[in-house]
Amino acid sequence: MNDTMKILAGRTAADDLVKSGMKLGLGTGSTAVHVINRVGELFAAGTLKALAVFPTSFQSLMDCEKWGIPVFTLNSRELEGGLDLTIDGADEVDGENRCVKGGGGALLIEKLAAYASTSYALVADERKLVESLGITFPVPVEIIPEARVQAARALEAFGARAVLRAALRKAGPVITEHGNLILDVTFAESVDPVVMEDEINRIPGVVENGFFTRRRPVLYAARGDGTVEVRT
Ligand code: A5P
Repeated sequence: MNDTMKILAGRTAADDLVKSGMKLGLGTGSTAVHVINRVGELFAAGTLKALAVFPTSFQSLMDCEKWGIPVFTLNSRELEGGLDLTIDGADEVDGENRCVKGGGGALLIEKLAAYASTSYALVADERKLVESLGITFPVPVEIIPEARVQAARALEAFGARAVLRAALRKAGPVITEHGNLILDVTFAESVDPVVMEDEINRIPGVVENGFFTRRRPVLYAARGDGTVEVRT
């Protein structure tokens, strides 16, 4: 059921938004993979041409490679640090389409892509829609290893609980694709995500956090009844 909604959101957004010749950011996770698969199908069929894609994680890189989608670094001559469009998943989305991302640990590059893009779109199923961000699903904060204790203390001063993300099938913490750690931060009560996005990044040792508030994405939210709400 949930997979059906993820497929629906991902394919609908790809069909609506991706055009030939685009510099395209492609996101990470179990919903964004369906965007990549749809772009891959259309690229393989020759319907989409001349794409230059920036994948936001090792996972999305591998998914693009499966389809032969041309991938580039953000610093490449092809992309020159800019994207026409990024489509990505989200862990939570509020009524103003602000979101929390990083459940898959890829928040740092996902934020680079989001903030480098002229247009930004989110794909999600209706379970991700919330009134307040960061209360139910934790906000990931990527930190350098040396900041583990100090950053956790500073985050807890915001009235939050900060838990070091543990690895599965490896002893110890998750090590990100950039050699960092992740603190998963749950707030006790509603916070202003715009303020918190800046405040968290002011803590020494914080590399990036999972509040995404500075872009106003279009949201493709799939419903259990088989419809997709497109919310701007
Ligand atoms: C990856 O780090 C995340 O930001 C994902 O985009 C987010 O966690 C949504 O993933 P799912 O679509 O798998 O829920």
